[in-house]
Amino acid sequence: MKKRYLVGNLKMNLNSVSETEHYLVALKKELFGKRIENVEIVVAPSSIYLERFSRELPENVSLGAQDVFWEKEGSYTSQISTSMLNDVHAGFVVIGHSERRLYAHETDGEVGWKVRAALHENIRPILCVGETAEDRERGVAADIVSGQIVEAFRDVSPMMAERVVVAYEPRWAIGSDVIPESEDIFEMRIVIHRALAEAYGPSVADRIPVLYGGSVKESLLDRLCLEPRMDGVLVGRESLYPHELVRMARHIGGYGSTDSEVSDNNS
Ligand code: 13P
Repeated sequence: MKKRYLVGNLKMNLNSVSETEHYLVALKKELFGKRIENVEIVVAPSSIYLERFSRELPENVSLGAQDVFWEKEGSYTSQISTSMLNDVHAGFVVIGHSERRLYAHETDGEVGWKVRAALHENIRPILCVGETAEDRERGVAADIVSGQIVEAFRDVSPMMAERVVVAYEPRWAIGSDVIPESEDIFEMRIVIHRALAEAYGPSVADRIPVLYGGSVKESLLDRLCLEPRMDGVLVGRESLYPHELVRMARHIGGYGSTDSEVSDNNS
């Protein structure tokens, strides 16, 4: 089975050391004795807690950051460098999230710089793309998403491109509980694959994972991930519950969410 990804974007949540500790303890407990194969679990906390996560995350969970800057060092107040991320062993970084595009006015060009900076330092970008509700109404969703892909992968070699994880997150489905149809997600998967295949050829495009994000919860995984043949999910709110995170990982890993630990250990 092809490897899947479950990425928890904790956003600006877990707002204290004690909440963070609580989360890490609960996550360890939830994962204990559970078999999760074929799924890379990534958790991306706020940058202020990256170091703590780095020390305490269970070993079968990878660390992700929520953003990175393209310059290596210097007078860039509030920014986080790739060296800082490497120092805390963050193997992934979310880039171009729609909340960064919205609140920090991040452009497609800047997203591209960040993707290249991360790849250069061997950190895997989780590149977010997605259209607004207005784009969709105007019938330009596919053009918007293809354009975002082209800009983000500009000057990225085929070998490096395979290190990128793309996350399709329609902006209107984020934090809204508005749930897209499987067919619409699948259509956008094809749009993304086509844009990548034009740049790199179909076999490289085949190897670039494409995740879905936006109001994901365990009960919707078939519709949002498995039926539209996505390679995993990028999860916001539900990732704040370690129990749900692990249930989702098991679901997309093919174990079903209700198997008991005992039956897993015996199988
Ligand atoms: P929600 O799962 O809370 O809708 O957030 C999705 C998201 O933005 C993940 O990056």
